[in-house]
Amino acid sequence: MTQVGDPMTNSNLVLHPNVKKGFRLVALECPYDILHHEPVQTLFSKVIALKIKGYLHEHPYGVLPVDSSDFIGDHLVLCKVDENENWIPIMAQKSLSLRRARLHSVAFPFSALADSHSAFPRHREFFQNWVTQLSSRLGHADHEITYESAVTIDPELRVNPPLRQWVRDLIWVQNARFHQGRGTKSSLTLAATQFKMHEAFNAIGYQSAADRWGGLADLELPAGDDKANLRLMVRSGDFPPTLAPLIEANAELWEDRLILNFAHLGSAQERLTHQVKKDAPKKAA
Ligand SMILES: CC(C)(COP(=O)(O)OP(=O)(O)OC[C@H]1O[C@@H](n2cnc3c(N)ncnc32)[C@H](O)[C@@H]1OP(=O)(O)O)[C@@H](O)C(=O)NCCC(=O)NCCS
Repeated sequence: MTQVGDPMTNSNLVLHPNVKKGFRLVALECPYDILHHEPVQTLFSKVIALKIKGYLHEHPYGVLPVDSSDFIGDHLVLCKVDENENWIPIMAQKSLSLRRARLHSVAFPFSALADSHSAFPRHREFFQNWVTQLSSRLGHADHEITYESAVTIDPELRVNPPLRQWVRDLIWVQNARFHQGRGTKSSLTLAATQFKMHEAFNAIGYQSAADRWGGLADLELPAGDDKANLRLMVRSGDFPPTLAPLIEANAELWEDRLILNFAHLGSAQERLTHQVKKDAPKKAA
């Protein structure tokens, strides 16, 4: 099997194992903690640019797929690494924990959404109930609940069917492995039915909240001057064993992932404290 041309644009490409060598998975965890690193600043802004590009490809001008949760969420990213070692994000998704949202007084996206739309009292009720049930079952629900959102693939890549399929699969491999590593058992999402995201989430163990809680219609939310149809879906428990072959097939890529977080890079707070100590005037002897 030979690789022909640029894998981003060649629609006849048969996905060769070597093609995968030009890609790296990245976990950019809580940029708030590590934005003092210039390479992180560059990557973070590229992730934001990808989100805007990906959403604008599907929704009218005005759609805004980023907010304050991007600073404190965990960005799970696939990068294409070119011959000059430029890291170009081509797929991204975000996971935000309830604990983080509370720490920064950022409204957990789903509850904020339900609160701000009086038309969704049943959704708010469901969310509150679900959190309460998990809290009493798990005892530390803050650590266990995440909101998954903003899955985006570079539209230029989506014209290449084998590459598009592989990247679609990687969304779920990366999501599952990230949460397996963290031990997160409970997540929720609003799946865009237009892109059949509800089917994709279903395949990794999410259930429509309407199946558990009657009377929950899909939400129609603004996307630019258009509307997006979103289905509230929840997962609690392990990922299904049907994901194992995909996980296995991409194990090497996962093992080779780049993790950018507080533990690996140190926090801005630590650096500031260090700087303040270093710059403090010495006491006269
Ligand atoms: C979500 C996203 C990553 C999925 O990319 P993708 O897997 O390449 O899929 P597509 O968007 O091309 O379409 C997914 C499926 O929905 C179908 N679809 C897409 N747009 C559609 C439309 N307007 N009406 C009906 N079906 C549609 C496609 O035919 C496709 O079906 P198939 O899998 O049977 O071929 C991509 O659409 C994207 O980046 N969208 C912008 C960001 C966004 O809105 N994210 C949603 C987060 S929940």
